[in-house]
Amino acid sequence: MIIEVHSEEAMKLLGGRIGQLLHGGELIELIGDVGAGKTTFTKGLATGLTIDEDVQSPSFTISRLYEARDDLRLAHYDFYRLSDAGIMAHELSESIHDPQMITVVEWADAVAHVLPKERLQIRLVSPSIADRTLEITPLGERYKTLVGALA
Ligand SMILES: Nc1ncnc2c1ncn2[C@@H]1O[C@H](COP(=O)(O)OP(=O)(O)OP(=O)(O)O)[C@@H](O)[C@H]1O
Ligand SMILES: [Mg+2]
Repeated sequence: MIIEVHSEEAMKLLGGRIGQLLHGGELIELIGDVGAGKTTFTKGLATGLTIDEDVQSPSFTISRLYEARDDLRLAHYDFYRLSDAGIMAHELSESIHDPQMITVVEWADAVAHVLPKERLQIRLVSPSIADRTLEITPLGERYKTLVGALA
């Protein structure tokens, strides 16, 4: 599915809509260049999960954890700075397999070997300063259902 947004606000609203559809145990892989809007999307996703805390880029800390609605949690990872994920790959793997966790990963190259086949893959491209195109690819049945609910 291809979705175009034309503002930061619209990106957050889209993230919010997807956040509302999550039940726990989902993995979302965000692919795109620096400034493509991966973290901005995640801020919106957090709104859909009723997270009040301000979601900040985990570029320096690699991971950030937030308490969400319905006893869910959001684990937000950014592996940009890592060529070898080391022990972080283990932490990531634990959060992916936690049924109460929603896991979002930016720059997953260093942890590609840990990512299960089933995930929601979102590719973001930036054709102009304010426009973003999202290519949303559901890998696995549960993600097809999720994307179906978006349409
Ligand atoms: N339509 C849009 N959607 C998302 N961000 C937008 C949009 N238009 C402009 N922007 C701007 O683009 C930037 C996106 O930054 P963001 O941190 O979300 O990117 P990122 O993909 O997470 O980058 P990084 O790889 O550095 O983590 C922000 O400064 C935001 O204000
Ligand atoms: Mg980011």
